[in-house]
Amino acid sequence: MSLLIKNGTIVNDDAMFKSDVLVHDGKIVEIAPSIDPTPGLEVVDATDRFVIPGGIDPHTHMQLPFMGEVAKDDFHRGTEAAVAGGTTMIIDFVIPTKGESLLVAYDRWRGWADPKVVCDYGLSMAITSWGQEIAKEMEMVTKADYGINSFKFFLAYAGVFMVRDEEFYQGMLQCAKLRALARVHAENGAVIAERCEHLLSSGITGPEGHTQSRPEELEAEATFRACTMASQANCPLYVVHVMSKGAAAAIAHHRKKGAVVFGEPIAAGLATDGSHYYNEDWLHAARYIMSPPLSRDPSTPNALMKLLAAGELHLTATDNCTFDCHQKSLGKDDFTKIPNGVNGVEDRMSVVWDKGVHAGIIDPMKFVAVTSTMAAKIFNCYPRKGRIAVGSDADIVVWNANATRTISKDTHHHAIDFNIFEGMQVHGVPETTICRGRIVWADGQLRTVQGAGRFVPLPPDSQIVFSAVDNRGKALEPVKVERAPYVATTLEAPDANANIVVKTRSAVPPGGISSIQF
Ligand code: URP
Ligand code: ZN
Ligand code: ZN
Repeated sequence: MSLLIKNGTIVNDDAMFKSDVLVHDGKIVEIAPSIDPTPGLEVVDATDRFVIPGGIDPHTHMQLPFMGEVAKDDFHRGTEAAVAGGTTMIIDFVIPTKGESLLVAYDRWRGWADPKVVCDYGLSMAITSWGQEIAKEMEMVTKADYGINSFKFFLAYAGVFMVRDEEFYQGMLQCAKLRALARVHAENGAVIAERCEHLLSSGITGPEGHTQSRPEELEAEATFRACTMASQANCPLYVVHVMSKGAAAAIAHHRKKGAVVFGEPIAAGLATDGSHYYNEDWLHAARYIMSPPLSRDPSTPNALMKLLAAGELHLTATDNCTFDCHQKSLGKDDFTKIPNGVNGVEDRMSVVWDKGVHAGIIDPMKFVAVTSTMAAKIFNCYPRKGRIAVGSDADIVVWNANATRTISKDTHHHAIDFNIFEGMQVHGVPETTICRGRIVWADGQLRTVQGAGRFVPLPPDSQIVFSAVDNRGKALEPVKVERAPYVATTLEAPDANANIVVKTRSAVPPGGISSIQF
C-alpha cells in the first residue's frame, strides 16, 4: 500500500522544510520537493499543514488493575484515543503484583495488548519486589525476545507497588549492568501513608485530603533522593510524571552535576492544576485524583512548559490511567479509596501545542522533540520512530496549527464519562494520523483495525542514555590507600600516669583521589 503526502512542511526535531513524502509498505521511501502522484496512489493534501512524526506517549496504563478496579481505557479504546489525538505509539507498563514472576506478568500484558492495539506499542516493566530471581528475570526480559529496556520503581503506594530504598538501589545497580534505564515514581510513600491516616482521623475524607496527604515537598524530596541514589549506582534515571517545580528543580540540580537524568511532565500537569481538589462538587474533585497530585500552585503548568523549553525537562507523556465516575465514586467516604489516574493520551499533542507552541514558549521543532523524538531516542527506537526520514516507519501526522478544537467527553474516544480538560479550547489539531503507512484517523473519523498495531521490542543500551555512563563510572571506582603497616607510637606523657597513642596517617596515593564529587 502506498501513500503520497503533498505540499506539507515537514518538521523534525532539528529542521523544518517543505517537501512531499512518499510512503510504501509502512515505510517512508522518498522525501523530495515535488513527487508526482502515480495512478492508484492515495494522496493526502498537506497544504498549509505541518507533517510531523506521530506522537510517542512513553507512559500509559491501559486496562491496569489498580486499587481494586481496572482502568477503563483498554488497549483497544486507549490506542484509538491515542491515534485520534495524533499519537502513533505508546509505551505501557507491565506491573507484576508483589512477588510475581516478571515473565508471567509480561505474558499477561502481551496477551492483553497484542490482539487489541490499533497502533504500535512498546513495554516498560515495573519492579515491585526484589530478590535474586527478579534480578535474573530482569536480565531475561532485556533480551530481544522480550524487548524491555527500562524498569520502573515506585517509591509510593506503600504495600502495593512500593519498594524500599535498598531494593531501589540494588535494582538500579542491575539496570546499569543490563544497560537498561531506571524509571521512578518519586514520592515519599512512607510519609504519605502516615499523613493519610492522620487526615482521615481528623475527619478529612474528601478529595482535598488527597492533595493534603501529598504536599509537593514529598515529591521533591523523593525526586532528589532518587537522583542521588541513581548517581551512586551510576545508573541513568528517568523521573516519570514530574508534577511540581520542586521535583523539576531536583532534576536540574543533578543534571548540572553531570548526572544522566530525564524528567517527564505529563499533559495533565501542563494544562491544569490542583485547585480542582477543593471544588465543592465531590465528583468534580475526585475526577482529578492522581499521584503525585496536580500542583496547587497555579503557576506550575506554565513553569513546567518553560522548563521543557529550557531543556531542564525533556519529554512529555500522559500517565493515561482512566477510571470512570462510578469507579471514582467508590472513594466517596475515604479519599484513599478513589482510584488514582487521569486521561491524557488523546489530548496530549493538542495541549502541548496549545500551551507550548501557540503560547510562544516552544517552536514546532521542540514540539516534535518533546512529543516524539526524545522518547524514540531514550527508548532506543530512533530513527525508526520519532523522525520523518527515508527508512523510518511511516508514523506520520498531518497537523493543522491554525485549527482549534474544544475538548469534551462528548467527542473524545476514551472509555470514560468525563475528561479532565473538559471545555478547554486548544489550537493545533491532528487532521490525519498514519500508523505504519495506514490512515487510521481522517476527517474526524477513526479507520482503525483492532490488533493491527505491532509490538516494538526496545533494545537496551540507548546511546542518549548510556554513552556517558562508562566514563562517569571510572570516577566512582573505589579508591584503596596503599600504606605502610600500621604501627602505634607511644609518646612520653606529661602526666606519668597517662599514655597518649598517636595513630600514623598515610599520604594520598600517587594517583591522587578523584576531584569529581557525586
Ligand atoms: O495516579 C496515577 N499516576 N495512576 C497511575 C499509576 C501511576 O502512579 O503511575
Ligand atoms: Zn506513577
Ligand atoms: Zn504511571
